Amino acid sequence: MIRTEYRLVVMALLIAIFCFDLCYPWMNFNSYTSRKRTDLKKRCPNVRAQRNFDLEPMMGNWYVVQYYASTEELPEYACMRSHFTFTSDDQHITMNFSYIYAEDPLREKLQGNITWEIPDFNTPAHWIHTEDIYEGIYNTYVLDTDYKSWGLIMHCAEKKKHPRYLSALLLSREPTLGENVINFLKEKLPRYDIDLSFMFAINQTTCDNLMESSKDDPLAYIVNGRKNAKTMFKIILKN
Ligand SMILES: *[C@@H]1O[C@H](CO)[C@@H](O)[C@H](O)[C@H]1NC(C)=O
Ligand SMILES: *[C@@H]1O[C@H](CO)[C@@H](O)[C@H](O)[C@H]1NC(C)=O
Ligand SMILES: *[C@@H]1O[C@H](CO)[C@@H](O)[C@H](O)[C@H]1NC(C)=O
Repeated sequence: MIRTEYRLVVMALLIAIFCFDLCYPWMNFNSYTSRKRTDLKKRCPNVRAQRNFDLEPMMGNWYVVQYYASTEELPEYACMRSHFTFTSDDQHITMNFSYIYAEDPLREKLQGNITWEIPDFNTPAHWIHTEDIYEGIYNTYVLDTDYKSWGLIMHCAEKKKHPRYLSALLLSREPTLGENVINFLKEKLPRYDIDLSFMFAINQTTCDNLMESSKDDPLAYIVNGRKNAKTMFKIILKN
């Protein structure tokens, strides 16, 4: 009896561990049918990036307190943080980030980085990826920031024969951000056909002492989309 229970627990744990990579995208694909989305457009919008944007004071540490991604239907992440640096020699902006899956009992820290360049220094709030991960357009915009406490950035990618991939990160210098500021920033998103009911808060409590992971996740799920989702879907369909 005890042995059976033990086995079940071990099995559940194994499923949980392996499921994080394999099942989440699959679950998301399935849930598309359960909740109709009206925010999956084909084209990236014309974006008004912040005017008179100053790069340097935007750099440094941020907590990601809310996020939206056109591929995400459920709040999945916790403890998401990012660190921006600008290197003047190659003129690149790098964002280091880390997060955990909120449901991960091990609270394993996943991390990665993304690098952008500024195509036109007259509009420094518009960045493009240096990595060649999408065949098409892939833009990042700082929509608004006061540098010292809050910021809002948005990414959009267009891919052939797919809806656009669009995501937004609401940044805060502190683990929490006032409700009124959050609402003020969120109001900037529906004009880009972002459905705010798919914007989720990111829990930032008890995020110290996360389990260090050996796994590197250089391409963020949130920022770059579920790169593996399609292949995973194929594998699942085959079985
Ligand atoms: C970014 O992360 C890498 C690897 O974790 C680390 O070596 C580097 O110092 C970090 N850079 C910044 C600016 O945080
Ligand atoms: C945030 O995470 C902590 C630690 O896991 C948990 O105790 C708390 O209930 C969570 N809060 C919310 C609002 O989910
Ligand atoms: C970014 O991630 C790659 C791959 O994980 C790593 O090799 C590189 O050192 C990282 N760069 C920075 C600046 O953290």
